[in-house]
Amino acid sequence: MAYTMTLLRSIPTEDGTISLYSEEYGQAMHTQSGAYTEALVKHVRPSGILSLNENTLRVLDVGFGIGYNVLALLEEFTRDDRGRSLEITTLEKDFPPVDIMEAISFPGKTGALYDTIKRLCENREARGEKFTVRMLAGDARRSLPTLEASHFHAIFLDPYSPAKNPELWTVDFFRELYRVAAESCVLTTYSSALQIRTALLEAGFTVGKGPSMGRKREGTLAAKGACVEPLDETERAALRSDPKATPYRDETLSGARGEILRHRKTDMAARRKTQP
Ligand SMILES: C[S@@+](CC[C@H](N)C(=O)[O-])C[C@H]1O[C@@H](n2cnc3c(N)ncnc32)[C@H](O)[C@@H]1O
Repeated sequence: MAYTMTLLRSIPTEDGTISLYSEEYGQAMHTQSGAYTEALVKHVRPSGILSLNENTLRVLDVGFGIGYNVLALLEEFTRDDRGRSLEITTLEKDFPPVDIMEAISFPGKTGALYDTIKRLCENREARGEKFTVRMLAGDARRSLPTLEASHFHAIFLDPYSPAKNPELWTVDFFRELYRVAAESCVLTTYSSALQIRTALLEAGFTVGKGPSMGRKREGTLAAKGACVEPLDETERAALRSDPKATPYRDETLSGARGEILRHRKTDMAARRKTQP
């Protein structure tokens, strides 16, 4: 099995929902301001997915974690499906922490949906009357190239931070995300780091600002096409001139974390030398 186990422990967040702290990455899966709220405010709502005029909505979720992005999307979708269906594909490297998820509960209908998501961990697939969720296990850098081109109407990009989890923030990984994005697909992420915005631009996306939440800075929205408000000229000039905007690269989509970080440091140093 491609899965590995990682050391995770529960931590409370300010909206009353639980997040997990990862010893491997040295950080929590969600913002301290509210784990479930983050899924709604940073991903589901800004993606605009539920306003699309499509019979079948298709969403790619990168980094299943404990499934809050999937849950928030299902919760909003099932409230008023307008006769449409929803297909979610979620990518996850580690075996989901089923024991911890079993101890997490939500009230009412949200709780019933979360129980459905828990079954996803064992079966890799969960279904409702109008939705399906499938999980592709293993490194997203390997599963993403197997997915159909121009397929998804929204992408939730939710790995750990760029410095801790650089393999899912590279120009090369974003090129693959661009390939599987349908025209007008919106990608959501909590990061506003300069190197992430540069990488998204280089991969072909239109890049704009995403919402902020609590103490966290604004996120980023990226689109295949012109359906997000692009960054203004001053912001784009900063991406061209600031060495910190040097993106991560991983041409083989298989580089080790340390290798990707070192490669960027070298590129940054070269860029500093060539600047006036
Ligand atoms: C911040 S958490 C995601 C939180 C999640 N979206 C939620 O709603 O609970 C990041 C997740 O990305 C996964 N991840 C990190 N690197 C990965 C990789 N190379 N391929 C697939 N998943 C990866 C981690 O195992 C972790 O579960």
